[in-house]
Amino acid sequence: EPPAAWLGAQPAAPVPPAACRPHASHKGCFGDVAVIGGECSAARGTAMTGAAWLAASAALHAGAGRVYVCPLADAGEPAPAAWAALPEPELMLRRFSALELRAITAVCGCGGGQAVQAVLPAVLRACPRLVLDADAINALAASTALQAAVRQRSAEGHATVLTPHPLEAARLLGSSASAVQQDRLAAARTLAARLDAVVVLKGSGTVIAAPGQPPCINPTGNARLATPGTGDVLAGLIGARLAAGAHPWPAACQAAWQHGALADDWPALQSLTAGELARRLRP
Ligand code: APR
Ligand code: MG
Repeated sequence: EPPAAWLGAQPAAPVPPAACRPHASHKGCFGDVAVIGGECSAARGTAMTGAAWLAASAALHAGAGRVYVCPLADAGEPAPAAWAALPEPELMLRRFSALELRAITAVCGCGGGQAVQAVLPAVLRACPRLVLDADAINALAASTALQAAVRQRSAEGHATVLTPHPLEAARLLGSSASAVQQDRLAAARTLAARLDAVVVLKGSGTVIAAPGQPPCINPTGNARLATPGTGDVLAGLIGARLAAGAHPWPAACQAAWQHGALADDWPALQSLTAGELARRLRP
């Protein structure tokens, strides 16, 4: 029996079978994704590189043409040495400043830490298709100017998808995670209207909302996804779909469905880790 608050929501649609790639296609046909995040600080002795690697791996396995990772470092620190070893040889490193922002889909914030604040204005201005997760959402919550820049993107025809978990949504709304959880549909709809963007409010029964649309509740997924990094995988998957040309609404609904369905089909005796989840994605 769905809670009363779910009435009026539509179930998210299942993912259609992957279209056959035209025979004459090449990797340039499927779009480039850049993951901007993975902060490392030698001074503070911290590294969040795994989040960016997971999002990049997800984008790669979900069919993106080329996947770049742009590590961020604290102001004044050199690019972290930890980046020399990429976990998958298909991924490519790029300095943020060397990215051609107008030609890529960006997934921004996965393990971005404080450093993401410095790059966010340029990313919001230039990237035609953008997924904002984790620390990018936290940076938005702290800046009304950045929120205005998100709204401006829609006026310019740029696609923006935000993927907050309940606490990140609460920071954006200026409320608490428990208030968000009490009415998840309202929280997602309010954020979508306020930012003029697609909002994927994660958790059990992920809600996908967009301005002027009845929200969707994703019926797939289970508590095996409650393990570190699965949100980064979802962000990379949405990025790959946007890069391939999907509109942000179906991209978000179908990605949430596919992500959850993989967890529902997971072998009972195997542990579910985010890295393995990313590797099982398909275009
Ligand atoms: N049922 C269904 N889906 C679930 C459940 C559940 N019980 N629990 C988690 N999930 C799914 C969510 O819907 C989401 O897709 O797993 C994913 C978890 O994403 P996050 O909450 O972002 O978790 P994670 O990837 O570990 O990111 C946590 O990122 O938010 C930042 O800095 C923060 O360190 C934190 C990190
Ligand atoms: Mg997360």
